[in-house]
Amino acid sequence: MSLEDLKLRAPIFQAPMAGVSTPELAAAVSNAGGLGALGLGASNWESAAAQVSAFRTLSSGPLHLNFFCHDEPERNPTLEAAWLARFSSEFAALKATLPDALKSPYTSAKDTPQLVDFVKEYRPELISFHFGLPNPEILSAIKQLEIPVLVSTTNVEDAELALSAGIDGLIAQGIEAGGHRGTFDPSSDYDFSNTALTTLELVERLGSLTARPIVAAGGIMSGIDIATALNIGANAVQLGSAFLLCPESGANEDYRDQIRKARGSGTVVTRAISGRAARGISNKMTNVGDTARTQDIPPYPIAYDLSKQLNALALEQGGSGYGAYWAGTGIANVRELPASDLIDQLMSETEAAFKPR
Ligand SMILES: Cc1cc2nc3c(=O)[nH]c(=O)nc-3n(C[C@H](O)[C@H](O)[C@H](O)COP(=O)(O)O)c2cc1C
Repeated sequence: MSLEDLKLRAPIFQAPMAGVSTPELAAAVSNAGGLGALGLGASNWESAAAQVSAFRTLSSGPLHLNFFCHDEPERNPTLEAAWLARFSSEFAALKATLPDALKSPYTSAKDTPQLVDFVKEYRPELISFHFGLPNPEILSAIKQLEIPVLVSTTNVEDAELALSAGIDGLIAQGIEAGGHRGTFDPSSDYDFSNTALTTLELVERLGSLTARPIVAAGGIMSGIDIATALNIGANAVQLGSAFLLCPESGANEDYRDQIRKARGSGTVVTRAISGRAARGISNKMTNVGDTARTQDIPPYPIAYDLSKQLNALALEQGGSGYGAYWAGTGIANVRELPASDLIDQLMSETEAAFKPR
């Protein structure tokens, strides 16, 4: 597989961002010569189909679709009740009843044959998986469709697994990245603060493993960042945070305000919001994560149910502080521009970065 088949003006991928990447954003990026994406990990099949159809009415350009392949969580009512109880004062302050139980807000595509039917019907130009790979039968049925398949990797071990499973290319997601770390086994990532690789370190390491395409993701905000990643061996770059303040993004007003305000204070990696390590803007939920022990947090995505409920209640009452406002270390450099202008600027900066001075 070659990324050249995508016929991009420049190898810039807009990251699939569940809940934030809209058909409008993806279409604006693809129409401007980058690769637009839809993050369908948290969508049901009906909503996923509607998003793809909306994209196709707005663009005849290439489309990247992304799905989650986490293991379905093991339920532990005692642990979940203890986690809920920890937030009783927050629910009381928001004048809401503490829920009786948590639910899992969405399912994994890992063992879902509908994934194959969906991809067959909508034929995106590229597919990627986050949190691991589909089971071997599903992956082999997808590979028969001859659509290139990538997977997010945060370390060499996951990359080796993906390559031996026949994946066409790797997304090298460094510790700078906004959103969830795509690490296959979340328990192998508990010690991320000591062991996590930066985007550039990971690109270099994966480059020594394979000649298949590598897409650098994490902290890439400018043409100089893009040129640096391409120079050390990445074949393309994937940017998420850079698009958060585009008018086409699905980020709500509170999220946008927090990005503008957080520019000086940065981001943190926490498990407290969703149950898996993810980088976002610090708030009341990430503060809980600073003290909660990993073993006390319900697994992904059950913990998400609680933070989503608190966030919805706070927003309804004009408050804030519980949102999963994912963003990477480059947050200070998010530009507030229409996506097509952002792609144009990134392309000309990248070209300038390659010109001899
Ligand atoms: C708001 C947000 C949501 C994200 N959602 C997804 C997702 O649904 N699937 C996925 O593969 N990656 C997701 N990511 C991670 C991105 O693919 C990518 O690794 C990351 O954005 C790169 O780092 P950057 O944000 O510093 O550009 C998300 C990132 C952000 C910021």
